[in-house]
Amino acid sequence: MALDQYLAALQKEIETLKYGDKPQELYEPIEYLMSLGGKRLRPALTLMAYHLFEENWQKALKPALAVEVFHNFTLMHDDIMDEAPLRRGQQTVHEKWNRDTAILSGDVMLVAAYELLSETEDGDFKAMLKRFNRTAAEVCEGQQMDMNFESRETVMEAEYIEMIKLKTSVLLGFALELGARAANQSQEVISELYQIGVNLGIGFQLKDDILDVYGDPEKFGKQVGGDIIENKKTWLMLKALEKSEPGSELHQWIQKSDFDPEEKVKAVRGIFTNLGIKEAAEAAMTDFFNKGFEGIEKLQVPEERKATLRGFAQWLFGRDR
Ligand code: IPE
Ligand code: IPE
Ligand code: MG
Ligand code: MG
Ligand code: MG
Repeated sequence: MALDQYLAALQKEIETLKYGDKPQELYEPIEYLMSLGGKRLRPALTLMAYHLFEENWQKALKPALAVEVFHNFTLMHDDIMDEAPLRRGQQTVHEKWNRDTAILSGDVMLVAAYELLSETEDGDFKAMLKRFNRTAAEVCEGQQMDMNFESRETVMEAEYIEMIKLKTSVLLGFALELGARAANQSQEVISELYQIGVNLGIGFQLKDDILDVYGDPEKFGKQVGGDIIENKKTWLMLKALEKSEPGSELHQWIQKSDFDPEEKVKAVRGIFTNLGIKEAAEAAMTDFFNKGFEGIEKLQVPEERKATLRGFAQWLFGRDR
């Protein structure tokens, strides 16, 4: 089973999703953001997990879409918080419309995600809902930590890992878990898949942090250097701070409130590069991906079913967009 088939099915479903009509100002931004694409990795994970156990993977499309709509809701609000101008190579919703629209359209997207989840055909819906709620609350917790860290001078590596686990990787874990839940798997199998997603997810966010500094703007689709501008305590930043003396050039850049963004990005990237931070971040990322790969190898499912998930995880590891 090729990944392309999952993605084509998801694309088709997304094109036919109806969120609502009036007022148009509320629903248009949702159609806009959803139509910009993205990798669709979370719903693909749900389909793949379901398909490890069940033949008719199309039956997991609704819960898969619930995860994707939820993810897009978090992006709409995240872009306000991060003052991001670009998403998937296009203007962010709060830039194209305004903040209030991005807040409210995002809110109604969360409702749409619940609606889709409730259309799940198989599995214990009450248990899914409970886990969805827990995951959603954790994403908010991680997002708050991410913002708290912006104004903190030091952040320990363990705190950073906890933050990205919450804001990003629990949702990848949940995406895989949901597929297993829809396929009525045991708690043991559900937990195994969740843990694979969490490990891949931590690696995935580390990759996102690396690409935010070193990515090709054309492929990345977001403003390269956005994290540097916002003083985000990414893994790269906290390691660079560890290696810099108080009062160093890096500390000076962080303290400046009036600066030319391009100049700051160029200078901070240069500091990272000189300190060997990129290679170190790649090594940390590789460790988490490897934990995810090990989890995939341990899964007790037929080899041919495993191959797609393994291949997809490898693609995520090597991605440049
Ligand atoms: C962006 O997620 C938010 C992060 C957790 C880094 P993706 O990189 O999956 O975004 P899309 O959906 O492909 O655009
Ligand atoms: C976002 O992390 C995680 C969530 C959206 C919950 P980032 O802020 O790094 O994501 P991007 O880089 O804007 O996609
Ligand atoms: Mg962001
Ligand atoms: Mg953010
Ligand atoms: Mg990012």
